[in-house]
Amino acid sequence: MSVESSVRAVTTYRLMEMKQRGEKIAMLTSYDYSMARIVDAAGVDVILVGDSAANVMAGYETTVPITLDMMIYHARSVVRAVRRALVVVDLPFGTYQGNSKVALDSAVRIMKETEADAVKIEGGEEILESVHRILSAGIPVMGHLGLTPQSIHKFGTYAVRARDEAEAAKLVRDAHLLSEAGCFGIVLEKIPAQLAARVTAEVPVPTIGIGAGGACDGQVLVIHDMLGINKGFSPRFLRRYADLHEVMTDAVTRYVSDVKACDFPNTEEQY
Ligand code: KIV
Repeated sequence: MSVESSVRAVTTYRLMEMKQRGEKIAMLTSYDYSMARIVDAAGVDVILVGDSAANVMAGYETTVPITLDMMIYHARSVVRAVRRALVVVDLPFGTYQGNSKVALDSAVRIMKETEADAVKIEGGEEILESVHRILSAGIPVMGHLGLTPQSIHKFGTYAVRARDEAEAAKLVRDAHLLSEAGCFGIVLEKIPAQLAARVTAEVPVPTIGIGAGGACDGQVLVIHDMLGINKGFSPRFLRRYADLHEVMTDAVTRYVSDVKACDFPNTEEQY
């Protein structure tokens, strides 16, 4: 990008305006250059370099093992592709909890080494000091409440969160704390739609839902899930927009068969 175009069309300020005028925000994950080019050109507003890369790119069971270096590799590839969307990068497990100085160092590495626009971190009150410290360096922060996958070993399950009153009350409190601290948006993952609607109405910053109903200011999905690359993951909230698993399997099967049958390459496909 040239100096003049180094600020992307979608900014954190623009997202706030979208909430105010009731325009929904479309967010999707991407982890590599080629996918991010398609996603950006198709008009997605926010691209999340999610730590779900641990699952869909690296094959880990949870998001816990992915490292800051791995996230930086994915984020750099995405940023090189994107012209319009705001690029947000997850700080991975162990790089911001419990020590706000470490959190700032991690966020600075993301911003310096990837040239992304913002970071996302999971949690509420427990990580508030880290949120303040990162924001104080001028780095935009997106929050993430509800089902926070980095805490899977504490939860023990990927079931819907905040069904009971105490957890719901804490979530509402945390959303206010994040918003008041200066977060520019909050992901709400797998919580009752009514609770997400309440948070969306109460906080001034955009909420982005995944399994949190239609009242959120925007929606996010993991790109591999919505394209149907991942067959084994079918939660109720997931709408599949393609069956790329079938398309790709068919293409690869036909290629193998053409090579075995000496049909590929033919005389037109050689020099
Ligand atoms: O890592 C990720 O993909 C996420 C989304 C599910 C919100 O955090």
